[in-house]
Amino acid sequence: MRFSKISTAVLASLPVFAGVNGLNILISNDDGFGTANIRELYKAMKVLGHNCYIVASVVNESGMGGAEVYTKYKNLTSDSEFGIVKAGAPSVGTDPNDSHIWYYNGTPSTQIQVALDYVLPRYTNLTTFDLVLSGVNYGLNLGPFLYTLAGTLGATYTAIARGIPAIAFSGGYSTQTPYFWVNSSTTAGLKDPATLYGELSANLAQQLIDNAKGGPILPLGYGINVNIPKLTSFTNDSCVNPPFIQTRLTGGAVVDSAGYDEETGLFSYVDLIVPGTNQCINGDCSLPGETDVLNAGCQSAVSVFTIDYDAPIGGSCKTAPDVRAALMPLVQYSNSSTLVGGLNGTSPYANGTLQLSSRARLRRSPLDRS
Ligand SMILES: *[C@@H]1O[C@H](CO)[C@@H](O)[C@H](O)[C@H]1NC(C)=O
Ligand SMILES: *[C@@H]1O[C@H](CO)[C@@H](O)[C@H](O)[C@H]1NC(C)=O
Ligand SMILES: *[C@@H]1O[C@H](CO)[C@@H](O)[C@H](O)[C@H]1NC(C)=O
Ligand SMILES: *[C@@H]1O[C@H](CO)[C@@H](O)[C@H](O)[C@H]1NC(C)=O
Ligand SMILES: *[C@@H]1O[C@H](CO)[C@@H](O)[C@H](O)[C@H]1NC(C)=O
Ligand SMILES: *[C@@H]1O[C@H](CO)[C@@H](O)[C@H](O)[C@H]1NC(C)=O
Ligand SMILES: *[C@@H]1O[C@H](CO)[C@@H](O)[C@H](O)[C@H]1NC(C)=O
Ligand SMILES: *[C@@H]1O[C@H](CO)[C@@H](O)[C@H](O)[C@H]1NC(C)=O
Ligand SMILES: *[C@@H]1O[C@H](CO)[C@@H](O)[C@H](O)[C@H]1NC(C)=O
Repeated sequence: MRFSKISTAVLASLPVFAGVNGLNILISNDDGFGTANIRELYKAMKVLGHNCYIVASVVNESGMGGAEVYTKYKNLTSDSEFGIVKAGAPSVGTDPNDSHIWYYNGTPSTQIQVALDYVLPRYTNLTTFDLVLSGVNYGLNLGPFLYTLAGTLGATYTAIARGIPAIAFSGGYSTQTPYFWVNSSTTAGLKDPATLYGELSANLAQQLIDNAKGGPILPLGYGINVNIPKLTSFTNDSCVNPPFIQTRLTGGAVVDSAGYDEETGLFSYVDLIVPGTNQCINGDCSLPGETDVLNAGCQSAVSVFTIDYDAPIGGSCKTAPDVRAALMPLVQYSNSSTLVGGLNGTSPYANGTLQLSSRARLRRSPLDRS
């Protein structure tokens, strides 16, 4: 890529930080509160003038997706990652050096909940956060399969579900390092990759903030998934300032399969690229897939998603198949004057005797949940 062959001298003069500020920003991740990437993002957002908090897991919680697991213990039963907080300390608390940096012993989704429902009301004067940033993750999170698997995304869509705009950031450099190992300069005389990931991410967040002009940063239900390639600043400048490209989640994306090892009798994941993972159903089908864009070289992918998982009934992309018709007549519209019971129909289970009045269907029952 032409863009990546930028000299250090040029880089130093790039207006990485520009803009006016003061938003209240929550930062989380799935690698934990002590990793370099999240701390460098926090620093970069603070340099921009924002009021920032970190609430993130006490240990690595990668691969937890949107899972909601709260600890059953009041105190930590083992040390935090990198020994920053010791076993026996409370399961929720602050970094010894910064009262805006919180840890909690739970999955990424619970970090957002603890941030909004515990830290925010008790330990800040804020009423809400304006924006949630998640990452920068160690390792890429590309395509629909990783969207559900990754804790980085789990934190993001948990925030969006609570009405707060959120951006997931992931980076191709996947070795987790502690925040106190960030090198001010590498042997190549460049910034540490963690610092560059933080600055690139902050710069993208700031673009959205500037364009929002004081209004909501994203419409309700919307989020953004950003993937930044492996940065090479430890050794050379061949990939230190990748351009951001508009992408979509589907396109070249992998799903996992269970690889069975005859010798050990164990399974491990094997990547597959299959059509099921890569259908363009919503959004702009002319955009390249985020996976394809990362595979093509030193460039970053930026996909806009929503948490409305409903199927379309048509649109600009393609004429959607009428899946709802395939469920008729057993599945009915709520405006039907009479509703037929779910055991009605032609299957061996058909009963055909249960008829509910339209009044009965309006009765509310308490929702159980799994
Ligand atoms: C964090 O967890 C992920 C998923 O289990 C694993 O791949 C990674 O190696 C872990 N990182 C560390 C530093 O333990
Ligand atoms: C748990 O943490 C609290 C608060 O720091 C402390 O008072 C208490 O002794 C701890 N309990 C154990 C079993 O470590
Ligand atoms: C954080 O605080 C501890 C003592 O609580 C201190 O030993 C350490 O050097 C501090 N680290 C940083 C990076 O400020
Ligand atoms: C809340 O605001 C008051 C008054 O400005 C200030 O004294 C206090 O330190 C603030 N508390 C927090 C947690 O920021
Ligand atoms: C970065 O800093 C750490 C700790 O100071 C050091 O161990 C490591 O070798 C440095 N890495 C590079 C590539 O300079
Ligand atoms: C730059 O460094 C990366 C690893 O960080 C390496 O893969 C690549 O070959 C290097 N490129 C050049 C031009 O030296
Ligand atoms: C009932 O709802 C369906 C789906 O929204 C709609 O197509 C249909 O016209 C409605 N029928 C009546 C009688 O309102
Ligand atoms: C349900 O069962 C009744 C009685 O057998 C039948 O008249 C009706 O057509 C069935 N409705 C549907 C939607 O299958
Ligand atoms: C199924 O039909 C039998 C009579 O044939 C009736 O006793 C029973 O209540 C029906 N069950 C349901 C769920 O409608």
